[in-house]
Amino acid sequence: MTRYYWKELYSEIEGCRRCRLCEQRTNIVIGEGDPEAAIMFIGEGPGRDEDLSGRPFVGRAGQLLDKMINAIGFKRDEVYIANVVKCRPPNNRTPEESEAAACLPYLRAQFALIRPEIIVCLGATAAKYVYDSNVRITKDRGVWKEKKGVWILPTYHPAALLRDESKKREAWEDMQKLKQKYDEIAQNT
Ligand code: URA
Repeated sequence: MTRYYWKELYSEIEGCRRCRLCEQRTNIVIGEGDPEAAIMFIGEGPGRDEDLSGRPFVGRAGQLLDKMINAIGFKRDEVYIANVVKCRPPNNRTPEESEAAACLPYLRAQFALIRPEIIVCLGATAAKYVYDSNVRITKDRGVWKEKKGVWILPTYHPAALLRDESKKREAWEDMQKLKQKYDEIAQNT
């Protein structure tokens, strides 16, 4: 049954022209991973490599994300990875509010199908649209939020870690918190 709804969602997203990001895209980057994952990672939007391949987080930032996921004992295909917007913003600029608003129903639909216990917001854009429009990632990262029974952890975007290596220690602490929370949830279910 869920497979049916995924198919519906894919056919709705494919060919989407809800905002002008559709004009320059090569591929729509819907997301990938375990459709029943307990953990969902949400980034900002596809970059160049993602636009070319149609897959999320496959460039340098993606390789770092893979390492972070592996470091806490998961494989990439055991989690789900998606973005706030599904088409690449020109020159990797931050998506505009109207673009995010047009695309968010797709992310919400993905969330509703996957029903993860934990969402990891990679960077301020994801955190802003997932739970708090006033988020400040340097201040709020690593602090759990709970929304309707779902645990949300904001952390740095991996691209920010590539730009500033000194942030890696905090990102590592956040990944440890993620693993702890996952283990706690797994023990109680
Ligand atoms: N940055 C993002 O936010 N998402 C991707 O898929 C790749 C890079």
